[in-house]
Amino acid sequence: MKFRKFLAAGAGAALAFSLAACSGGGAGSSSDSSASGDDGAMMEEGGTIGVAMPTQTSSRWIADGDAVKSGLEEQGFEVDLQFAADDIPTQSQQIDNMITNGVKALIIAAIDGTALSSQLQAAADAGIPVISYDRLIRDSENVDFYVTFDNYNVGVQQATSLLVGLGLLNEDGSEGDASGPFNVELFAGSLDDNNAHFFWQGAMDTLQPYIDEGTLVVPSGQMDIEQAATLRWQQETAQKRMEDLLTGNYVGTDKKVEGVLSPYDGLSRGIITALQNNGYSGTVEDGFPVVTGQDAEVESVKLIVDGVQFSTIFKDTRKLAEQAVVAATAYLNGEEPEANDTETYDNGVKVVPSYLLESDIVYMDNVTELLIDSGYWTQEQVDKGVA
Ligand code: BGC
Repeated sequence: MKFRKFLAAGAGAALAFSLAACSGGGAGSSSDSSASGDDGAMMEEGGTIGVAMPTQTSSRWIADGDAVKSGLEEQGFEVDLQFAADDIPTQSQQIDNMITNGVKALIIAAIDGTALSSQLQAAADAGIPVISYDRLIRDSENVDFYVTFDNYNVGVQQATSLLVGLGLLNEDGSEGDASGPFNVELFAGSLDDNNAHFFWQGAMDTLQPYIDEGTLVVPSGQMDIEQAATLRWQQETAQKRMEDLLTGNYVGTDKKVEGVLSPYDGLSRGIITALQNNGYSGTVEDGFPVVTGQDAEVESVKLIVDGVQFSTIFKDTRKLAEQAVVAATAYLNGEEPEANDTETYDNGVKVVPSYLLESDIVYMDNVTELLIDSGYWTQEQVDKGVA
């Protein structure tokens, strides 16, 4: 249907573009192209694709932006890559500009998943396919495809690693030796990011039985996502909340925090700083609280190797970028990208066909295998904690 809409908008023929021709034989070899339109246009260039990323304050999004850009360039496209400093009006304006400048497709990692409806309407009116990148764009029918990870499972993995750190589970999933009860505190991401809800749901479904039986105790009582949320995923906000949780529930008592569910490495570092400022020290082995994470940001990978942060979730942004490139290229070839999930991601208006990737739990003992051997980070980057 969408495809027909693009064709109807006159975009299909002009955009028809042979991936094989472009990546293989270069600009001129379009003989195996299925393009029915103006071959001259194809021979010139692939056109520009707009890539809107949320922020550069997190190394994860810089890596995503770089990987999408180079993947698209390898396919012969030009790329307008923009970061929006986590500011919603900035991102809206960047996307407006991309549409005005005539991009052939949009790849968007939204800051606020509900704030882009008018941009997406303009994109649809111009026949520009929209790929929602990592975060689902909500409340709009003009989202054509979604590339992401299995976000519910990411939450399950975060909670699982917390249980492993506390000794309630072993890494292989079998029951651990510890029995608790353990004091834990819970953090969630930004409520305007659809992913935050999936991570939380996966995590809480995993932790709830332990809370119900009293093995895990949340001394603050803050167990709703609204209470645990961290607007814009800000490190300072998480640090402040952890400090408040300590002051309000632990300082002056004999209680100690033993674990913290954190859904993103930036938050984890804020939480760790708050704990350190309140007298918690050393490594997890020495009794420092078990703090989880997400994204395998190099600063946190160093903390994991140092034994201070317990775990993170590795989502290979190179693979995500590759899927975004595959999807964009499919649209520009007049095809529908291949989805492997057509049920999970309802954006409030429609279920968006999705391509989901798998993630891995990173512990100190598999950093080398998962992150260094795969070339995601070099040993030197991990040693220094700098990308
Ligand atoms: C991403 C996470 C990331 C978070 C904060 C989420 O939408 O899926 O990987 O940790 O945003 O940037």
